[in-house]
Amino acid sequence: MTQQPILQVRDLHKTYNGNQVLKGVEFDIEKGQVKAVLGPSGSGKSTMLRLMALLEPADSGQILLKGSRIGSREHKGKSVHLSERTLAIQRQEVGMVFQRFNLFPHLSAVRNVMLGLTSVKGISHHEARIQARDMLQKVGLDNRADHYPSELSGGQQQRVAIARALVMNPSVMLFDEPTSALDPELVGEVLEVMENLAESGMTMIVVTHEVRFARRVANEVTLFDGGVIVEQAEPEEFFTNPQHERTRKFLSHVH
Ligand SMILES: Nc1ncnc2c1ncn2[C@@H]1O[C@H](COP(=O)(O)OP(=O)(O)OP(=O)(O)O)[C@@H](O)[C@H]1O
Ligand SMILES: [Mg+2]
Repeated sequence: MTQQPILQVRDLHKTYNGNQVLKGVEFDIEKGQVKAVLGPSGSGKSTMLRLMALLEPADSGQILLKGSRIGSREHKGKSVHLSERTLAIQRQEVGMVFQRFNLFPHLSAVRNVMLGLTSVKGISHHEARIQARDMLQKVGLDNRADHYPSELSGGQQQRVAIARALVMNPSVMLFDEPTSALDPELVGEVLEVMENLAESGMTMIVVTHEVRFARRVANEVTLFDGGVIVEQAEPEEFFTNPQHERTRKFLSHVH
């Protein structure tokens, strides 16, 4: 028996001021799979992740999580927006980590991690602090809980951001170039946390330029270009025997 994909994206479209950015994105991801997404700048990778994280609505198309549509619903044959309250509930299922961390500068690390628990999940301050500390420990930052973002390195801030997403217990984690803003010597500690997360069975979509990480950790590598998925294959196949000219061209610039 084949299991149902945990996340299904169907014919996703998005246009900004006449600029068609997503032109029918389609893919599935199975539970526990890690999908690495490569692609040139401006091809729509971040837009695709923002739509999946329900940070903005698609113009058309569907996102299904565990078989149920999220982000929009169908009414009399038309796609309609959901209330902010419903979106907030659904967003808990999809964790997102951004290139630039996006931590609140006026809150300590543990407070940043607690915030979603107290404000969205309605968990008590006391219990939230316990869970947040536990999550900070998992990303190797138990001794930095009371530091403010400005007192943390980029790698540490990004690990706080990962903890903040994970503490909500999402079904899927999305990463948008999580190491691109880091000094080279700090990249490894973030990739290590992500690799551990992958090994723990988390379903992950990772937009990245880290080819070695994609090759080692991902189950599937995708080339995204011009608002569509051009190629997807197992890492070995993707890097050694790409089927599309666009992939070959892209890889020749990356390698
Ligand atoms: N909020 C927005 N309003 C208007 N245009 C946007 C918006 N967000 C993205 N775009 C446009 O959509 C296109 C795709 O942007 P996107 O950030 O998704 O690309 P990307 O593949 O993530 O690129 P990069 O590798 O540089 O991060 C670009 O032309 C961008 O200018
Ligand atoms: Mg981007």
